[in-house]
Order: sequence, then C-alpha cells, then structure tokens
Amino acid sequence: MLVFFNGKFTEMEEVSISPFDRGFQFSDGVYEVIRYYPKKFFEMEAHIDRLKYSLNEMHISFPHLDNIESVLHKLISVNSLTDELSIAYLQITRGHQYPRRHSFNENLPATFFISVEKFPAKTDNMTNGVRVGLEEDIRWLRCDIKSTSLIPNILSSHRAIKKGFSEIIFHRNGTITEGTHTNVCFIKGDLLITPPLNNFILAGITRKVVLSLCHKLGIAFEEKTISISELKDFDEIFLLGTTVEVTPVTEIDGISVNDGKPGPICRLLQNEYRKIYE
Ligand code: PDD
Repeated sequence: MLVFFNGKFTEMEEVSISPFDRGFQFSDGVYEVIRYYPKKFFEMEAHIDRLKYSLNEMHISFPHLDNIESVLHKLISVNSLTDELSIAYLQITRGHQYPRRHSFNENLPATFFISVEKFPAKTDNMTNGVRVGLEEDIRWLRCDIKSTSLIPNILSSHRAIKKGFSEIIFHRNGTITEGTHTNVCFIKGDLLITPPLNNFILAGITRKVVLSLCHKLGIAFEEKTISISELKDFDEIFLLGTTVEVTPVTEIDGISVNDGKPGPICRLLQNEYRKIYE
C-alpha cells in the first residue's frame, strides 16, 4: 500500500517515525477521516477547515495543506481504489523532539501522514438500525478538537462491541454529548433535536450536512441540550458520522426506540444524504 508521508508518496513498510515523535509519546496530534465516494471526496473543504481548526487550537505549525485533495486522489488511484467506497485517514503530529519533555517548541516540523483504505458502507446497520449503550463522558473538556488522544473513546467502543452494541453514547452532567465516533440526533414529533456545538462535542461534518438537509427539506430543528431522563420520550434517534452516514438507533440503554424500527425522518434523511454523493 502506498501512503503519503512527510511530503512523499512511500510504501507503507518504508515509513519510519522517530520514537521521540510526540504523537507516539504523548498522542500529541490531530486527525481527520474523509469519505471517498467514487469519484469524489465528500465535504473536502469542511474537513480541511476542521483540520486547520484542530491544528490551530493545538498550536501545531501545520504543513502546506492546499494541494491535499490532489494528494488524496493520487493515493486513491495508485492504490486501485478509484471505483471503491473508501476512506482517507490524515494525521498530523507535532513532530519529534528529543529529549522527551512535556513542554514543546512551537516550530517543530510536524509529522504528516495520510493513508487510504477500502471502507464499504455498513448497509445492514443503516437498513435495520443499531443498538447503542450509554456511558458517562469521562473525556477531556476540548472534544471540539479532533485529537488523536482517544483512549476513553476506544475503551468505550471496545466495551460496546463486547456488549453487542454498535456505539456508546456519552452523557456529561446528565446531558447527552455524542458517541465515541458519531454525533447523535433525536426526533420528537416533527422536530429534530441535536446537542449544540460547544467544547463537549466534535463539530461533525455529517451533522452539518444533515442540518442543512433539514433546512432544505423544511424539517424543523433545534440545537439544544438533551437530558438522559428524556431518552424514553423520543420517536426516533439516529447516529451521524463519516463512517456511519445516517444510522438509525433501535435501542438505547435498553430503551426501545420506535418499537425497534428505523423511523420515517431517519429514512428520509438517509435517502437525501445518499442523493448528495450519488
Ligand atoms: N469520527 N464525534 C466524534 C467523537 C467523532 O470521532 C466523529 C468522527 C464524529 C462525527 O464527525 P464526522 O461527521 O465529521 O465524521 C463525531 C471519525 C470518523 C473517526 O474517529 O473515525
């Protein structure tokens, strides 16, 4: 597999990263996951803007990002993925610094890595819906930064799989934040409700696209906090994310949603979302 590493296309096996890279030692880096729907990357500009935001908040001096789209297309093509549903993974760490110190030099040359992989749609989940669990959100208070430091997310995700759930939804101080790798939406009557953008959640690109679809389709929506005590009152719940698109939730923390069936607003948004990339 060919990857892009510090400005060059390289065989994956030939990439070498210093053990003093701050990404390795401190998880001191940021990332993006971008969907490739043949033959286009989805919401490229929004992903690059969010990457720049994360870099800026982390005080990482970032490499030149202007020709990234052509790099991504070249990676897709040289890895024979032109006609395959795929994802690109971009990671930028602060670079390496010896000796290991908590404090950092703001001008370190960043370590920049991109890979692509085939990633089919999770059609079964999207069609039939998924069961999700609930856990307390023990993450840091800057979840708006797409940091590679994801230990609470990955441990929750691991527990989810062991319990037969597709995702864990976090709550903090009694209110819903987001999933380990997804945002979450709720429907009550004709109204779509999703937690507001702040430091407790990632500003999801899928979330942004779905809210603009609501605007276009005349679906009323509110960005407001949702208490865990309200969960039993919703007509529909669904997950949003690059890797899950719009995925219905049929059960949350043992509470059945819409009698365990995907609801009509979720279906409508799924279809409209699909139309954008088809
Ligand atoms: N995760 N919230 C969190 C914590 C996420 O990690 C993600 C995405 C989202 C959804 O964002 P978007 O719609 O921009 O994909 C929300 C990526 C896919 C990942 O970590 O693999």
